[in-house]
Amino acid sequence: MFQTEAIEKAKEHFAKLLEAQLKRVEQMKAGEDWADYSKLKPIVVGVVAGDGIGPYITKEAVRVLEHILAAEIADGKIQLKSIPGLTIEERAAAMKALPEETLVALKECHVILKGPLTTPKKGDKWPNLESANVSMRRELDLFANVRPVKVPEKGIDWIFYRENTEGEYVLGSKGFNVTEDLAVDFKVITTQGAERIVRLAFEYAKKNGIKRVSAVTKANVIKTTDGKFLETAKRVAKEYPDIQFDDWFVDIMAAKLVDEKRRKDFKVIVLPNLYGDILTDEAAEFQGGVGTAGSANIGKRYAMFEAIHGSAPRMVDEGRAGYADPASMMRACVMLLRHIGFVDQAAKMEMALDICGQFEKKVVLTGRADGATGAQYADYVMETIRDPNLESRWKSYQS
Ligand code: IPM
Ligand code: MG
Repeated sequence: MFQTEAIEKAKEHFAKLLEAQLKRVEQMKAGEDWADYSKLKPIVVGVVAGDGIGPYITKEAVRVLEHILAAEIADGKIQLKSIPGLTIEERAAAMKALPEETLVALKECHVILKGPLTTPKKGDKWPNLESANVSMRRELDLFANVRPVKVPEKGIDWIFYRENTEGEYVLGSKGFNVTEDLAVDFKVITTQGAERIVRLAFEYAKKNGIKRVSAVTKANVIKTTDGKFLETAKRVAKEYPDIQFDDWFVDIMAAKLVDEKRRKDFKVIVLPNLYGDILTDEAAEFQGGVGTAGSANIGKRYAMFEAIHGSAPRMVDEGRAGYADPASMMRACVMLLRHIGFVDQAAKMEMALDICGQFEKKVVLTGRADGATGAQYADYVMETIRDPNLESRWKSYQS
């Protein structure tokens, strides 16, 4: 192809992307109100089991959820609804990251509990579709990916506010091969997109009496988009004079998270999508690995709760899926409960998970047959939840 022709084609492609992004900006400007769960009956909780170990760990998390919400389910305040159509086989058959009927079904729910879904990548046996996670976050406008990491004995108590609908992700499947030799991807940051995530992070800090918010970018190199994110964060920070604000480049932040002297000082960390993806895996490792971390994807109208890890197909292939750790999905349930206003149930479940997974560890998962099964772990968690002395038992482990 002649060079001018290649460039013209790329320009056309780029123009379409810009149109779609400008439309998204207009939608964000129009805004919508936050859902009020106290007024909903029933609150519909959609359950997406996921791929690989997903159905195994989701099943155990749902058992615990049904246990703790038995009364609310019985009186019709909460309804759990299974959402089909999102396994990798189903997505491949439909040739869609998010088949239409599934999106409709998801939109009939208020909140979603989601197991890990296989993300196809170039060269594997699946069509190279966009990640279903990424499509769902975008289609439901779940702009905040909230990922807490706590390791009490190391003084770690972080909460990451990862931007979830922009950055390298929003056009991650819309890159362009200009010629055989030139590949281009796009990164997008908008004023509205940056502002809403930064504001949510500051509001969380304010509500919880936290005195510090840190932003992470690479604005020294990625000047335009990260520059906008940082500039927006600085502007919003001025509205919260009681909260200390600082900013870090992502490389040094990755280093500081392992610095035992400094890392305790970080509290709320707000960052663009890809940096959030990377640093939250690093952070979760201190807590016992990605298998222990839950993640909330929050939008004004919908919210989705998930594990931060993948579907671990190898565990299924090796016949070990029953031994997968369901703690991440249970942590996701805690966040779900808190989000819809069931704070007492959330607190109980969280205390039980701390006791079972961090303090007493009477049932230990190894991911293999020498450890417990996910079902045994769920039984242990439910038994702990039922303990009338749950709170004092939990408190006895706090220093
Ligand atoms: C996560 C995951 C996803 C992401 C993948 C599966 C697309 O790593 O939730 O962190 O990169 O966001
Ligand atoms: Mg990730």
